Amino acid sequence: MGNRFLVTTAIPDPGLKLLSDAGQVTVLPEPPDYPTLAGLCSSGDFDVVLTQLRDVIDAPLLARAQLRGVSNYAVGYNNIDVAAAARCGIQVGNTPGVLTDATADVAMLLILGTARRVVESDNLVRTGQFRGWEPELLLGRDVSGAVLGLAGFGRIARATARRALGFGMDVLFAPRPPGDRPVGEEELGEFAGKIRQAGWDELVERSDFLSLHVPLVEETRHLVDAHVLHRMKPGAILINTARGPIVNEADLVDALREGVIAGAGLDVFEDEPRLASGLAALPNTVLLPHVGSATVAVRREMARLCALNAVAMAEGRTLPHPVNLPAWS
Ligand code: DGY
Repeated sequence: MGNRFLVTTAIPDPGLKLLSDAGQVTVLPEPPDYPTLAGLCSSGDFDVVLTQLRDVIDAPLLARAQLRGVSNYAVGYNNIDVAAAARCGIQVGNTPGVLTDATADVAMLLILGTARRVVESDNLVRTGQFRGWEPELLLGRDVSGAVLGLAGFGRIARATARRALGFGMDVLFAPRPPGDRPVGEEELGEFAGKIRQAGWDELVERSDFLSLHVPLVEETRHLVDAHVLHRMKPGAILINTARGPIVNEADLVDALREGVIAGAGLDVFEDEPRLASGLAALPNTVLLPHVGSATVAVRREMARLCALNAVAMAEGRTLPHPVNLPAWS
């Protein structure tokens, strides 16, 4: 029998073509709920499952699964219990590298969009309230000269730093909040002398824009909560293109309502696709539907990597992009 692939949600070309060249492909007509997915994974009918972020692959599912591998269509893999997969001898793969610039573009877009009140401005025009140029219409804040604090120093944080420097921002970074780790000259590379490492506390207190670029792991769940929000500058803006649960969203809504911080630009939410009560009504937010990697070219590349991982799993070869433990590298 050839390789058998289960695809929980259709992925773009060339992903499905690569899979069908290597075996038999089943694409589910709609995203499966947990019991359906667990049943399919334990059926023995598939060698590899290609998953999306909303597919929960936890320890109980993995314990019963009859699979060689799980290939996630994303760089993040917090939906998969990677340690449990390793214990069950099930490989896990992801799609790193190809979405770095696209996601950093969205971080920069949120920085600019919140600073310059793009949603309020667009809304004013669309609702016929624009009466012509006015000296004090929708005044925002300057990005150049502002302090951008990057929580994390991985690929996307660095790509965001590159963009921010181009906009004349002052860039600080904390590599592993809430903890720390030394970052030497060699790791700083192109950024040596241009950006500066800070502790998490300093980052929180000094940033005009605090942008999150950490993986979602136990240490980073609710990294930004009421306590942290109250230590930020009253004029500060929170940017999140990483994972929703890194922020306590109910605390964020309170902080935005009470003017504890000035705004938020979010591409991810704590309980996607649901929003915390009151968030959507706040004018000082820019809210995007998790589109950091959503360009035609990037999604195609992600599909290619995801399929290459899946075929390698099915054929018992080394994956192009295995997920290594621990999640913090
Ligand atoms: C990822 O890849 O982890 C993004 O969140 C979706 O592209």
